[in-house]
Amino acid sequence: MRGAISMDFWTVRGGKRLYGACRVQGSKNASLPILAASVLAGGETELTNVPRLRDIDAALRILRHLGCRAEQEGNRLYIDARGLVHSSVPESLMHEMRSSVIFMGALLARCGEVRLSPPGGCRLGKRPIDLHLAALRKLGARIEEDVSELHCRAQRLRGTEIILPFPSVGATENALLAACGARGETLIRGAAREPEIAALADFLCAMVAEIRGAGSDTIRLTAFRPKKDVCFRIPPDRIAAASFACAAAGCGGDLTLNGFEPGQISAVLHFLNAAGCDIITFTHALRLRSDARLTAVGPVVTAPYPGFPTDAQPLLMAALLRAEGESLFRETIFENRYRQVPELLRLGADISLDGREATIRGVERLRGSALTATDLRGGAAMIVAGLAAQGETVICDDGHITRGYEHFDRCLRSLGADVYLEY
Ligand code: UD1
Repeated sequence: MRGAISMDFWTVRGGKRLYGACRVQGSKNASLPILAASVLAGGETELTNVPRLRDIDAALRILRHLGCRAEQEGNRLYIDARGLVHSSVPESLMHEMRSSVIFMGALLARCGEVRLSPPGGCRLGKRPIDLHLAALRKLGARIEEDVSELHCRAQRLRGTEIILPFPSVGATENALLAACGARGETLIRGAAREPEIAALADFLCAMVAEIRGAGSDTIRLTAFRPKKDVCFRIPPDRIAAASFACAAAGCGGDLTLNGFEPGQISAVLHFLNAAGCDIITFTHALRLRSDARLTAVGPVVTAPYPGFPTDAQPLLMAALLRAEGESLFRETIFENRYRQVPELLRLGADISLDGREATIRGVERLRGSALTATDLRGGAAMIVAGLAAQGETVICDDGHITRGYEHFDRCLRSLGADVYLEY
């Protein structure tokens, strides 16, 4: 396994178009809560189609710390939670992955207690967890918080009605996980509707609960006596699919993406189509053709699913840097999600920022440059921009991109791009 402080160098020689077909990887954001859920029944879980990613490695280290056996072989992952002995996650492991807070609901349900360090802020801005904590309290947890530790306990969790004032993905997941340890029915109103919630619900239905309404804003869950052994296939990654679509839109080509549901990224496809891409969708595939002379679009306003995903904002922005006219973005989910912008300016892009709004005036050409990856999707956006730039772009990255993309360089090369990763 690679050390935590190694540096990745992505070299992108732009100017080539993307031609051919590729298969979309398994979903990172579906895998992580399902890995946390694997402790619920105290049995064995086998997962397939799990992408090989740094964030998955971090989740496996947490599971091993808890006393589980956790092994990944290719895209198959095996967890044996019979040996679980700890209900606390040390700070060092919490900091490796922001979404480790998802272990809170699962451990509370399984052990009646959990200790972990608060996740704190991250590169995208403040990451409060007040909605997660309010949901757990409503289920009967007592929570003590100080700067260094969160301690949640519950002698007995009780099914209840939880009303989320904002459809937080993480809070909905933690509420579902904790409710698996509760007696009686839990009703979540104002729930997040992201496909990753439906994936977690499918997994929980196979293991420990009867769930209705996942994918809508009202979810009902009643736990049953858990099944010890569960096999489950991780669904495809809609944000990885959107990344490849944006890459082909920006540099041109004829790309087929297989093994995912295009309907899950229809908000992204809507703008790519409006920008001039020719898109045909099938039940589990799409074909996108672009001659790389896009027209500006907007306003692109990020919003909870099924709105435009905040994760795809930097990627679509990168695709539109050379589009004719002025594109407008408005970011409503995270306060600090334009971190890629100063780096994209180095390529010759023309972008101005005003609070939560970004205006992109299309330029005729981008020039390769040396960049530094700022975060996972911002880093991927730099690759997308580099593919559309003339000359060489080198992106120095302390591991953000490999947190979320499996063999990104290899997949892009198989489509004809000139992209290499060295570490
Ligand atoms: C978010 C995205 C999700 C994406 C994931 C990975 C949204 C709504 N969620 O999920 O689609 O896959 O990042 O990048 O787009 N908030 C609170 N209190 C809380 C929890 C959240 O105020 O307890 C606020 C945050 O400040 C932020 C928003 O809700 O403004 C984030 O929503 P949330 O869905 O919780 O974030 P993630 O679960 O990280």
